[in-house]
Amino acid sequence: MQVSNRLAKVNPSATLAMSQKTNELKAAGADVINLTMGQPDFETPKFIEQAAIDSINAGQASFYTQATGLPELRTAISHRIERRTGYHYDASQIVATNGAKFALYCLFNAILNPGDGVIVPTPGWVSYVEQVRLAGGVPQAAPASDGFKVTVDDLDRVVNDHTKAIIINSPQNPSGTIYNKQELTLIGNWALRHNIMIVSDEIYSDLVYNGAKATSMLSLDPAISANTILIGGVSKSFAMTGWRIGYAAAPAPVAKAMATICSHATGNPAAVSQYAAITAFNSDGSSTEKMRQAFEDRLNTIYPLFNRIPGFKLAEKPTGAFYLFINVKDAVTNLGYDSADSFAMDLLEKTGVAVVPGRAFGNPNYIRLSYAAAKDNLLEAAKRIEDFVTGSSTPHTAND
Ligand SMILES: Cc1ncc(COP(=O)(O)O)c(C=O)c1O
Repeated sequence: MQVSNRLAKVNPSATLAMSQKTNELKAAGADVINLTMGQPDFETPKFIEQAAIDSINAGQASFYTQATGLPELRTAISHRIERRTGYHYDASQIVATNGAKFALYCLFNAILNPGDGVIVPTPGWVSYVEQVRLAGGVPQAAPASDGFKVTVDDLDRVVNDHTKAIIINSPQNPSGTIYNKQELTLIGNWALRHNIMIVSDEIYSDLVYNGAKATSMLSLDPAISANTILIGGVSKSFAMTGWRIGYAAAPAPVAKAMATICSHATGNPAAVSQYAAITAFNSDGSSTEKMRQAFEDRLNTIYPLFNRIPGFKLAEKPTGAFYLFINVKDAVTNLGYDSADSFAMDLLEKTGVAVVPGRAFGNPNYIRLSYAAAKDNLLEAAKRIEDFVTGSSTPHTAND
């Protein structure tokens, strides 16, 4: 049986693949520390769960809602965006979706004609490239020539007549880097000059550390804002990955096209999750702040531990999201591996620590690990990895 030509070009999610291998080892009894997943290790705050329970008890969660979400949810999202960025969207410009992932999928289907290009800076989140392909578009990789952030020079090298959009993700997965106001303004104006839409994925905007601030693409200039589609959601800010609520906030014609797709593709995201998300978006942010502080503490604890491992290079301490993106080229060479991929696989098999090879994010000499894990596990993982790299390791897999 043959799948479509379009699908033949699309790779499954690499982070999920590594995570699956990890689960297999776990099921076989191995002592595994899984640092692959991009999800907070906290439970959803109780008051948000309670809102969901209340909606069920009140009989509200049993029914279809508008395909783009309850008006109350879209208003809550609009208010939240305005509080954070100063930019106002009418609720009709908000499309609530099954996670930010589906907001992006839906968006690319709404804006791309076959062969249209989307500039995807590297390093970058695994799903962007495949989502563009799924929509019939052409991903245009733009390697950041200096560190993890692209400049307009990097963009000039890849833009062509078919380029329709550019994705900017700040704070960034996988590196935790944040674009500052000046860098965003240069990119915003560049996009306006080239008549290219900006997709600004700000899903990690609440998770910033050690005094850093995540400037929003929507806070710069009204002309840039009017040329931007904002992507966000509850997964990272409220520890709600399982609830699947994300959104796009977009200029009216794009929001309308997305609404049409949602109405045929998924209908509304689960009503019960929408009620939970309304409470999350309307909350005062104190539950997010508690998690943010825990992530900050973990980052400050583990950064020096990973930085001192021979052959591991961390450019600078990340300021956002919850990942370390580590250049392991020297360690890979010193230990005789042919790639960071085989290094990561052996690391998992011999020490039980699961990380994601950087190839998935466009940087094959790197590994990414998530510090959205208990501090004890992070300390243990750092020790196992250091022992593995320095040759003093005791294998931890297979039931020990
Ligand atoms: C950069 C980025 N954007 C979007 C998402 C999707 O988040 P969700 O679909 O859980 O809302 C993720 C999840 O890992 C991400 O890292």
